[in-house]
Amino acid sequence: MNITLPEFDVEAFRKQFPILHQPDSHGRQVIYLDNGASAQKPQVVIDKVVEAYTKYYANAYRGVYEFGQRIDDELELTREAVRSLINAERKEEIVFTPGTTASLNMIAQGYGRTVLKPGDEILLTLMEHHANIVPWQIIAEQTGAVIRYLPLTEDGRLDLEQLSDYLTEKTKFVSVTGMSNVLGTIPNIQLLASAAHAVGAIFIVDAAQSMLHEAIDVLETGVDFIVFSGHKFYGPTGVGVLYGRYQHLEQMSPLLGGGHMIDRVFEDHSTWADPPAKFEAGTIPIVQAIALRPAIELVREIGLEAIRAHEQSLLVHAMDALREIPGLKIYGPAPEHKGAIVSFTLEGAHPQDLAFLLNRHGVCVRHGHHCTMLLHDHLGISASVRASFAAYNTHEEVDKLAEAIQAARKRLRLA
Ligand SMILES: Cc1ncc(COP(=O)(O)O)c(C=O)c1O
Repeated sequence: MNITLPEFDVEAFRKQFPILHQPDSHGRQVIYLDNGASAQKPQVVIDKVVEAYTKYYANAYRGVYEFGQRIDDELELTREAVRSLINAERKEEIVFTPGTTASLNMIAQGYGRTVLKPGDEILLTLMEHHANIVPWQIIAEQTGAVIRYLPLTEDGRLDLEQLSDYLTEKTKFVSVTGMSNVLGTIPNIQLLASAAHAVGAIFIVDAAQSMLHEAIDVLETGVDFIVFSGHKFYGPTGVGVLYGRYQHLEQMSPLLGGGHMIDRVFEDHSTWADPPAKFEAGTIPIVQAIALRPAIELVREIGLEAIRAHEQSLLVHAMDALREIPGLKIYGPAPEHKGAIVSFTLEGAHPQDLAFLLNRHGVCVRHGHHCTMLLHDHLGISASVRASFAAYNTHEEVDKLAEAIQAARKRLRLA
């Protein structure tokens, strides 16, 4: 079959990220392969932050004066940009939060508390980030609910053959990563959403990693909640998104109480404002949220399909190059089942030593358990090294990663 890949000019895209042209203290141009932890920022995002602070900054949803109005308009434009990105029905379904972790805690506490009874089940998977495990453990302890973990196949995909054993009428929430931050595995969201709904469970996608690589249409897939962080999406730190179907947001309790989120305050109780204000207590990350919009516009201008095609070619290249290295083991499935993340160990080398030696060549990777201790236990390792790619990475950088690993092997006397 002859597939035509969408046009993508990596050099033109790279030019938009000033940090990628900034030498480090050794005068080197760094090779940034830690995008899974956080992505670099394009000039349009940096400019938007400066613009907001220098031209019209004020607190949000409070002032009728010109700056206040402008800030509100900018925030609502971002809310609309997020709505359109995920094809949500209403922009009131988009809540600004501090990030994925905060969003998942808000759902677990705010919805879990109203729904969960002793013996009810929450279904997660063995490859979840701690942000999609610990909030559920906290609410499970508070309510007497039980957490179950869908197992993985040998090659690191979800074991869907066991799904019917794990998904029962006791299951009230199913919360799954849209893309594993270690294995890169991309689950079949549509299938999982349908299966969760068939037993009456709420289906949540932790899209912290997947948002920038996999398009998601909430209406088509039927997911109930999606959460993600701005900083992994070429946007600012400190802002994230919680999307929830409006009827769920109405039913859900707020985690934080304070200004802006109330309808009426009485001496002994308060009533809540309508969503999204109900979940945006206090002063929200105003400028960060505003500066998320140019990141969304940039990604949409290029198109997730083109971005994904480029990243997939980097992934295939990286897996081919790394597989050639003696003693190197890659974790996770074949490229067609995953996004552009390659986690590996090198026999005889501690992941931290390896990451340290790669840094000597200007290669930035992450080492450790990547907030996935359950997954690392399952893999039988305590740590790994992770190279995670973004659309500004190049094939030359992949070659340099492989060369730097070879140099590290020599340095560690493994070659
Ligand atoms: C899959 C996944 N979920 C959740 C998070 C947490 O995101 P944040 O630290 O932005 O809240 C991360 C961050 O690495 C992640 O990779």
